[in-house]
Amino acid sequence: MIGILLYIFYFFVKTMAGNSERTFIMIKPDGVQRGLVGKIIKKFEQKGFRLVAMKFLWPSEELLQKHYADLSSKPFFPGLVKYMSSGPVVPMVWEGLGVVKTGRVLLGATNPADSAPGTIRGDLCIQVGRNICHGSDSVESANKEINLWFNEKELVQWTPAAKTWVYED
Ligand code: RTP
Ligand code: MG
Repeated sequence: MIGILLYIFYFFVKTMAGNSERTFIMIKPDGVQRGLVGKIIKKFEQKGFRLVAMKFLWPSEELLQKHYADLSSKPFFPGLVKYMSSGPVVPMVWEGLGVVKTGRVLLGATNPADSAPGTIRGDLCIQVGRNICHGSDSVESANKEINLWFNEKELVQWTPAAKTWVYED
């Protein structure tokens, strides 16, 4: 009996933890300038993911150097920071089961030449240096990026009315 209860508790905790995975998604300056903000948000919204935080700001080079610190030794790094700080962006936090991996699937491959049709990059852009949207590549980097762009108070706790129509439990 205790074993069954423990199993149910474990299953509940596991499911809840899975559904509350978070990723950091950011519409890049070209996405904003080209009027694609609504279209990109719609992909995540319609998939069933939950929006937890969002803002609109013109980021500094310093912030972007921190955001892309892992790429600082790459030859394209200076150009990347210049591009990303060339106008306002829309940083967001999205939550849901497998959202880090699925978020990357929704974005498509880094280079739009390789992104499948139907993906955000596959449908809406052409070059790697103008690929309109960022998505975290792991749960660990998602947590780092969320903490870099948002403070705790900006992460909104809420229950979407459609929750039980998106998840089985
Ligand atoms: P992101 O971080 O922006 O979501 O992109 P990603 O994970 O798919 O790719 P990543 O390797 O993290 O690269 C970050 C961004 O740098 C630009 N890039 N340019 N010229 C190049 O060869 C090159 N490679 C990458 C892209 O804007 C890429 O999204
Ligand atoms: Mg990346």
